[in-house]
Amino acid sequence: MKNKAFSRRHFLQASGAAAIWIPTAAKGYTSSEMLEFYANAEMSVNVSKWELDTPALCVDLDLLEANLDKMASTTLANGIASRPHAKTHKCPTIAQMQMDRGSVGICTAKVSEAEAMFQNGIDQILNTTGNVTPTKINRAMNLRQQCPGFIQATDSPHNARLLSEAAVAKGLIADVVVDVDPGIRRTGIPFGQPALRLAQLIDQLPGLRLRGMLCYDAAAQHVVGFETRKAETLERMIQATDTFELMKASGLNTEIFSGGGTGTYNIDHEIKGMTDVQVGSYVFMDAQYMSIGGEEDVEVYSDFATSLTIMTTVLNDQYEGRVTSDAGAKACTINQPWPIVKGETGMRYRSGSDEFGTVLYDDEPSKTYKVGDKLEVIVSHCDPVVNLYDQMYAIRGDKVEAVWPISARGMSA
Ligand SMILES: Cc1ncc(COP(=O)(O)O)c(C=O)c1O
Repeated sequence: MKNKAFSRRHFLQASGAAAIWIPTAAKGYTSSEMLEFYANAEMSVNVSKWELDTPALCVDLDLLEANLDKMASTTLANGIASRPHAKTHKCPTIAQMQMDRGSVGICTAKVSEAEAMFQNGIDQILNTTGNVTPTKINRAMNLRQQCPGFIQATDSPHNARLLSEAAVAKGLIADVVVDVDPGIRRTGIPFGQPALRLAQLIDQLPGLRLRGMLCYDAAAQHVVGFETRKAETLERMIQATDTFELMKASGLNTEIFSGGGTGTYNIDHEIKGMTDVQVGSYVFMDAQYMSIGGEEDVEVYSDFATSLTIMTTVLNDQYEGRVTSDAGAKACTINQPWPIVKGETGMRYRSGSDEFGTVLYDDEPSKTYKVGDKLEVIVSHCDPVVNLYDQMYAIRGDKVEAVWPISARGMSA
């Protein structure tokens, strides 16, 4: 046994190769205890998600795997590749599961996220956010030096020149894509001639190799109603296609045209020229995505299952019509719509207070809670929630099957 502290817990050992530990008193396990248990690969540890110290971030493995399989089979059938965005999960284990299902690489939002992925074995990375400071440009080029599969997005001639200088200084030719703005004016260079001129400049710069372009339409992803979403996406992306065609007609390298997300994953293959979808949230889903409606199910976006939940404990039941839990803004964020109590009806969850959540009962709640009871909530918006936790528990049925480090947690630089 790896850690003597755990033998003192009087776990029973079953015969055979795998050891099954049965806790004599199921009082709950802290995150560091859980990490130690599961770090020992020879052990099979019999801990239920209901025994976890809370708040605890959990991913349902059956649902996660179904989401990953569905995205892999849909993109394959639609003749488009996937380059999933790791900003959602920040977890190399999930990135590897995506690569194992045929993704051409992953995306990252920050160079620090990319570093964490590379350090954990992921070597095909497209960093979708530009790096503009000398520090970040240097970090990106350092990463490129170690990771030939690293591609950096850029959206201005000045930035492209800085990237090229940094690459030349390191004796590199670094791969880049042009980030094209889909008309939302957040990042990216405008469609058409400005994007073309940038691509041509990159093609000439000694330290850069043009790989193509990216155009992520953030505004399209949460448009309510499948048909409206589809119409808006296809309309807006016409100019992206035209820009891509311009680059192609100019003899530039156009092997990558990356874009799209979870809301448009089954629309993006109709965008002429698009090579791969940067889908992120589909792995977990969340209350925000549930509300946009899908092609089959117009009410709820049920194409993918809500695999990510937070376990929380009731701290106070003394007041009529409500209980207080231990998962507030620091465990759930204050994004809205609010978290949803999984499997229950007639109650609403609020996570506005720093350390406290509130369950408000409606007229006929499907159950009521006492102090010490646990409940499970579906997250409001998955990306920022994941960023609050060091590890997530991988759950099969009710049992914890593994503890996965969220290696890029807090990697916002
Ligand atoms: C550049 C980029 N690509 C892809 C995504 C993934 O989007 P989604 O989570 O909607 O799949 C995001 C999410 O914000 C993004 O910023």
